[in-house]
Amino acid sequence: METIPSFQTILFTLFSSLIFIIYIRNKWISYYSNKNINLPPSPNRLPIIGHLHKLGSNPHRSLEALSRQHGPVMLLHLGSIPTLVASSSEAAEQIMKTHDISFASRPYSAILDILLYGFKDLAFAPNGEYWRQLRSIVASQLLSSAQVKSFKNVRQEEIGLMIGMFEKSCGSVVDVTPLFDSLAENIVCRVSIGRTCDGLVLTKILRKYLTMFTRLSVGSYIPWLSWVDRVSGLMGQAEEVTKKLDEFLEDVIKEHVNKKSTGDSDGNDEAKDFIDILLNVQKDKTTGFSFGTNTIKALITDIFGGGIDNTSTNLEWMLSELIRNPRVMKKLQKEITEVAQGRSIITEEDLDKMQYLKAVIKESMRLHPPLPLLLPRIATQDVKIMGYDVPSGTQVLVNAWKIGRDSRLWEEPKEFKPERFLTNSINYKGHHFEWIPFGAGRRSCPGVLFSVAIFELAIANIVYKFDMALPNGVNHEDLDMSEKFGITVHRKFPLLVTATPRF
Ligand code: HEM
Repeated sequence: METIPSFQTILFTLFSSLIFIIYIRNKWISYYSNKNINLPPSPNRLPIIGHLHKLGSNPHRSLEALSRQHGPVMLLHLGSIPTLVASSSEAAEQIMKTHDISFASRPYSAILDILLYGFKDLAFAPNGEYWRQLRSIVASQLLSSAQVKSFKNVRQEEIGLMIGMFEKSCGSVVDVTPLFDSLAENIVCRVSIGRTCDGLVLTKILRKYLTMFTRLSVGSYIPWLSWVDRVSGLMGQAEEVTKKLDEFLEDVIKEHVNKKSTGDSDGNDEAKDFIDILLNVQKDKTTGFSFGTNTIKALITDIFGGGIDNTSTNLEWMLSELIRNPRVMKKLQKEITEVAQGRSIITEEDLDKMQYLKAVIKESMRLHPPLPLLLPRIATQDVKIMGYDVPSGTQVLVNAWKIGRDSRLWEEPKEFKPERFLTNSINYKGHHFEWIPFGAGRRSCPGVLFSVAIFELAIANIVYKFDMALPNGVNHEDLDMSEKFGITVHRKFPLLVTATPRF
């Protein structure tokens, strides 16, 4: 049985660790001042916690405020972790293009180590041969354009079901968040494991599992206090929920293997889900890359983690902005109605003719990137960024949210004006560093095509079928757009609407 350390032991450990940390810090400072290196500007910090107290409840906003005082590249200490914060498109370009190879790894975190099978996944695997092989499998076999197209029916069916829920709600107030959550969950689950999450134990496990990514782990910032995460029960909870998800995925994989061995598969490509595909790749000895079941499970958890919350959050912000901006909503409805020519639903074949829809989606992601600080990177060698020295081992955060609202880059940056994307050439390839909601470079998001296909079809159908208003006569301008930082940046308050059929 685990024993809880006495108060005196804790005090002693804290005190001796504090002396140790101050010693190391002084050594570090004198080492770099001896080398006469030019570190980026850094605000005053507190002992032990460094600048952690400056992050606030919405770190992207606090970091933006700090960057106004200290410039587009700052060096913060999150606990004892030196962290470079980049807040301009130039700095982002130097990190994710010019020196991409030096920043192609992710920082270590003990809690992620538990949640992600010791980094057998793609998103947090350190840069190296394993990551490279996995990335190539994911890009070419799971999330390629052809593969995304092959899931067209899944998107059409699930969006049809969501539209049905809106229809049922007509005449009363509906909270759109659960509708978007289950749309995202069901699409992601159907394509990755071959079944929906609806009503399954999986929804519960998944929710708990995904929230573990948002839990504050003391050890991630102050490694010598890692024991606090054990004593507080955080690590235990991470192990427990990972075990539950693991048991579930183990069963799902077994079912897939059995289905194959009994020949109970219709051989139809469209019916193949990600587990089927990964089992095939696993058997293929010509690739020269062998991986076990843990890799398959870890990859599926990445797909859950990357696909579900990002998708539903994004849909929430898109609909919020459309409701807040009736001019844009009307213009979009006009475009979609013209393309639809009286048909009852919008299909994927219609989407290429809807340039304004595409602009609306990009504009919403400019103002509300679901991951405003992207995912952290780490410098694996000493690099110079914007003239400053960035020592190897420095963690890097890129404030994509701030860059998307930079008045040097965007006219009237706070206004929702999709028209700006009709005249610029910004696309999803990550070549334009003023708009990087999916990151850029080697570690950029491989799920872009997958997500955009859902956004376009979902928004086109909702906007085509319904007029949306805020309940209780609330004016569209008064819609509260407050944010809540979590796995992604969500709306703080639910989006409650009344939907009225347009036809
Ligand atoms: C609105 C939707 C999404 C947004 C905004 C988003 C955003 C991001 C961002 C910012 C990164 C880090 C990029 C960087 O470090 O430069 C990332 C990485 C990643 N995303 Fe997405 N993502 C979305 C949807 C998806 C989907 C649907 C999937 C999978 C089906 C996915 C899977 C991943 C994976 C596996 C990585 C890690 C890639 C690597 O480290 O090599 N994402 N995403």
